Amino acid sequence: MLPDEVVKPIVLLLGEVVLAHNEWNSLSKIAELRQVNHGTREQFLNDCRAGVYDGVLAISRTYDSTQITGRFDQELVDALPSSLKFVSHNGAGYDSIDAHACAARGISVSNTPGAVNACSADTAMFLILGALRRIHIPYTALRAGKWRGHMGLTHEPEGKTLGILGMGGIGTAVARRAQPFGLHVQYHNRSCVPEQMNLTGAKYVSFEELLRTSDVISVHLPLNASTRGLISYREFAMMKTGVVLVNTARGPIVNEDALVQALEEGKVWGAGLDVHEWEPEIHPGLIANEHCVLLPHVGTATVETQTKMEVLVVENVRSALERGCLLTPVLETRKMVNGFGPLGEIC
Ligand SMILES: *[C@@H]1O[C@H](CO)[C@@H](O)[C@H](O)[C@H]1NC(C)=O
Ligand SMILES: *[C@@H]1O[C@H](CO)[C@@H](O)[C@H](O)[C@H]1NC(C)=O
Ligand SMILES: *[C@@H]1O[C@H](CO)[C@@H](O)[C@H](O)[C@H]1NC(C)=O
Repeated sequence: MLPDEVVKPIVLLLGEVVLAHNEWNSLSKIAELRQVNHGTREQFLNDCRAGVYDGVLAISRTYDSTQITGRFDQELVDALPSSLKFVSHNGAGYDSIDAHACAARGISVSNTPGAVNACSADTAMFLILGALRRIHIPYTALRAGKWRGHMGLTHEPEGKTLGILGMGGIGTAVARRAQPFGLHVQYHNRSCVPEQMNLTGAKYVSFEELLRTSDVISVHLPLNASTRGLISYREFAMMKTGVVLVNTARGPIVNEDALVQALEEGKVWGAGLDVHEWEPEIHPGLIANEHCVLLPHVGTATVETQTKMEVLVVENVRSALERGCLLTPVLETRKMVNGFGPLGEIC
């Protein structure tokens, strides 16, 4: 090797860059860029174990790349090359990555908080209004040549109580949007950050009080072992009759069998779902129920937000390469320290 020849670190892209091409390509000045955009989990695991990705320092992965590699679970994390120190994930939710397993191997993980807040909150508002107005019925009636169909009268947000489960960035953005519609906002959150508490004019309540007293409940929690199935039979039983449930977070937080039963019993008046327990499979009881507004996980599918997300993913990779730390590390890997430098600290 010539003395002035610099060996560039390797960055592996799993999936596709759709919008931030300039930002991604500019990384080629400081890194060797490689890509995997098709194949199977078995192939990826075999290639990892055969040393095909030895030397890769950072992985940049899209939400859809889970269809190629499967989850970044313990098995996959164990197979990743020992050179790997960073995973920059495109998405606010990172349940497709076992972040604890990554932390244990000294791999720091970032997500894209912030970038998704406005768009996700818009989707939640659309579903809140849509479910209150049972918008599926007139939407489909008109196209079937049945004018209003058997729509009946519906409801409006003014004066109702909205319970927000999870007051992070997205929940806060929903609270801000909901108030001009005349919704009284209350919330439950894992922790109460004092300086955040009065920002939105929303009232903090216990989980049970939120279930018992909300007219509309909107879910904005991460999916993990403690939130899986959080809204199930017992929780629906505690809710007001006529409640509206909206989920734009992750499908498995709501037990859909329990939701379908609650809809059929009239306990739940309407539901608005962008995410589904077994997506892309949709519960037949939800498909059959005209009181549900159903979207196929398109909560952040806008040019503006997808661009912000991809740019932030690339900025995380750049920061990892240039400074040895990610910009927006996830909680589980934030406190991690290993030989590579100030890993996981906010830089
Ligand atoms: C899952 O997320 C919830 C809600 O934010 C949090 O309170 C809890 O500690 C998390 N649980 C695990 C197992 O990470
Ligand atoms: C809710 O909890 C999250 C995670 O601990 C925190 O970042 C956020 O500031 C909290 N929100 C409020 C309003 O306290
Ligand atoms: C929030 O507002 C209430 C009512 O105005 C006040 O009593 C409380 O001290 C405030 N809390 C914080 C943390 O500022």
